[in-house]
Amino acid sequence: MTELKGRDLLSLADLNRDELMGLLDLAAGMKAGKINRSHERKVLGLLFSKASTRTRVSFTVAMYQLGGQVIDLNPNVTQVSRGEPLADTARVLDRYLDVVAIRTFDQADLEAFAGYCQMPVINALTDQEHPCQVLADLLTVQEAFGKLDGLTLSYLGDGNNMAHSLMLGCALVGMNVRVAAPSEYSPDPKIVAQATALADGRSEVLVTTDAELAAKGAQVLYTDVWASMGQEDSAESRGPVFTPYQLNEHLQALADPEVIVLHCLPAHRGEEITEAVIEGQHSRVWDQAENRLHAQKALLASVL
Ligand code: CP
Ligand code: NVA
Repeated sequence: MTELKGRDLLSLADLNRDELMGLLDLAAGMKAGKINRSHERKVLGLLFSKASTRTRVSFTVAMYQLGGQVIDLNPNVTQVSRGEPLADTARVLDRYLDVVAIRTFDQADLEAFAGYCQMPVINALTDQEHPCQVLADLLTVQEAFGKLDGLTLSYLGDGNNMAHSLMLGCALVGMNVRVAAPSEYSPDPKIVAQATALADGRSEVLVTTDAELAAKGAQVLYTDVWASMGQEDSAESRGPVFTPYQLNEHLQALADPEVIVLHCLPAHRGEEITEAVIEGQHSRVWDQAENRLHAQKALLASVL
């Protein structure tokens, strides 16, 4: 994956189809034990302005397994919390680190930060996208079905960062993608248009308010929280609007009999997904969470 050396991953659409498929192959090989610990003296910085369990720990373990080191740059223990400008922080950290993963709110801040850096900058979640999660998701789908092309993934719930990156990722690999969301919580039309352009007529990109229509015949059912980090104030008012989109046994029964159920986690049982579905025989959420480690190891090795 020498073509990814030095590159940023700010959006999943920063990758082309071959690069994305190459990363999944590399991740599968690493999962099977083919790891080159040749990254001694390389340092990854984690600059996270939001909570994280999976992303923080999987990036840290991935870097250790590649032979490198990690610095957790919690904004509360740096001058970021005291208002040091992003442009100054970026240019300083660029002199110390070899790669940085950033979790923040505004995609524009991530892009501005990357604009000041020579080192690769990785999107570890913004309000707009969560590309690293989708690398792991596609790896999980590929493991389950032995292919990606032609499968249908249906996402039920909020047209949020997960919906956006899933649309772009599915379009890139030739999967049909359907997003069922309440009309006031539809995905960003710009991302829908971008995914449609990437699919280029090879696969379907559908946005609907009809959860049953979306679930019908799907090989992958996916959901995420109804209120993302930063939207806690509106969580209560969102509940009734999202109830028809709950991933429950009724919607699961409409899908392909071999359907797999995915959730990026953390999950709110009884809200966006039922206990029976997340703990049921179609659920692959623990494999999916594990695959964050393998997918990000492949990404780090490629950009370094
Ligand atoms: N799925 C995911 O990104 O989890 P964390 O918020 O725990 O990192
Ligand atoms: N949409 C969720 C994903 C968490 C991994 C959020 O942004 O909070």
